[in-house]
Amino acid sequence: MRPPSYEAIVDEFAASIRSGSLPAGTRLPPHRALARERRIALATATRVYAELAAMGLVVGEPGRGTFVRARSGYDGLEPSRVLPVPRVADLSFNQPLGEGQSDRLRQALRALSVSGEAEALLRQDPPGGRLHERAVVATYLLGRGIDTAPATVLLTSGAQQAIDCVLRSLTRPGDVLAVDALTYPGVKLLAAANGLGLAPIPVTATGPDLAALDLLCRTRPVRAIYTIPTLHNPLGWVLDRERRDHLVALARAHDCLIVEDGTYAFLDPSPPPPLQALAPERTCYVAGLSKNVAPGLRFGFAVLPGGHVETVTRSLRLAAWGAPGLVTALATGWLADGTVARWEEDRRGDAAARQDIARSALAGMSLTAHPVSYMVWLGLEPHQRPDHVAAQLARAGILVSTADAFATGPHRPRALRLALATPPRDELENVLHHLRDVVDAIPP
Ligand SMILES: Cc1ncc(COP(=O)(O)O)c(C=O)c1O
Repeated sequence: MRPPSYEAIVDEFAASIRSGSLPAGTRLPPHRALARERRIALATATRVYAELAAMGLVVGEPGRGTFVRARSGYDGLEPSRVLPVPRVADLSFNQPLGEGQSDRLRQALRALSVSGEAEALLRQDPPGGRLHERAVVATYLLGRGIDTAPATVLLTSGAQQAIDCVLRSLTRPGDVLAVDALTYPGVKLLAAANGLGLAPIPVTATGPDLAALDLLCRTRPVRAIYTIPTLHNPLGWVLDRERRDHLVALARAHDCLIVEDGTYAFLDPSPPPPLQALAPERTCYVAGLSKNVAPGLRFGFAVLPGGHVETVTRSLRLAAWGAPGLVTALATGWLADGTVARWEEDRRGDAAARQDIARSALAGMSLTAHPVSYMVWLGLEPHQRPDHVAAQLARAGILVSTADAFATGPHRPRALRLALATPPRDELENVLHHLRDVVDAIPP
């Protein structure tokens, strides 16, 4: 029998990895063993692994071997995330991860294991974190234009927990939360869980319609406004200074709390000042390290007006005590030694490059996106129903989100949100061409 061609071996491995029969983390046979098993030359075995690495399916770790890479660590709870075929690409959830991050994690874990910190990590931190760790985050936030005392910063398990604790403690069931008519889906879940009524603010290409917000606040008892002023999810806008001032003036006039979500703000190197800096007395700023470091880290924070720190800390204690000590040690270590700043710089370049790829692969389609954002809002033609298009794409192994996930009011635009960060960058162009073919093939 002739030995299989190297392409056949690559295809076989790729299929097993994509179908999940070789799960993430599996150590593949050493090059020599593969060569022996498949009766191929050692150089061919090396070429097989190089090809799989170039496809983003495996990663070689010096001295340890070749491992199957996690393509996306999140398969989600929603049935729509379960694909009928092997996954080709996840464009539904942004999981940016950079080169060498797992090595940095190993190094950091090794350093922690021999540091005097090990004992301290076994002790319970106060909810919201120890003051010196909160100070590290406060120092980092100076770079975002937020100048706040460490005591006003609470460390949480991701931005989602920060939003939850803020809403849980500073609103009451039955209160009204004003949100953009298209917004981050997690806030819809939290509003429902906290018994809040959602009041959608109509959106424009440049931000929420503030005249409509004013009217909303005059006609309904809006307790809080949840907003994403810098690199909005899903529309990508960055509110200009004038609109920020206007929004703050409205919040003051109607005595509303502002929940400012800065999750993607790091991607803009020089945005206008955060709302927190314009209205520190009423703004709860929430963000985390999911998009600039790693979503699996589950590290976030909230910056609170001084008078609210105690109440939110109490709800954090009730929730899950905030960020675990081990995660906090890793996160604050990387914040303090400049690692996060470097990764953020890398991500800015990465997001801009992915937007370029998307603009050219989807040229001529209806796109709304910021040039440094990790997402694209793709408008569909009247005959292309978003749920149908998403189902067709799922059959092609591509996960996307439909506008439904983001809509807070009755209007559901004909659109998809494409998250660009998760597929390996060198696969993105092909994936988007493939997506385009599927969308274009839908008959009128
Ligand atoms: C706007 C926005 N806020 C918050 C979150 C949740 O972030 P975390 O993973 O830090 O909980 C996300 C996650 O995608 C997001 O897009």
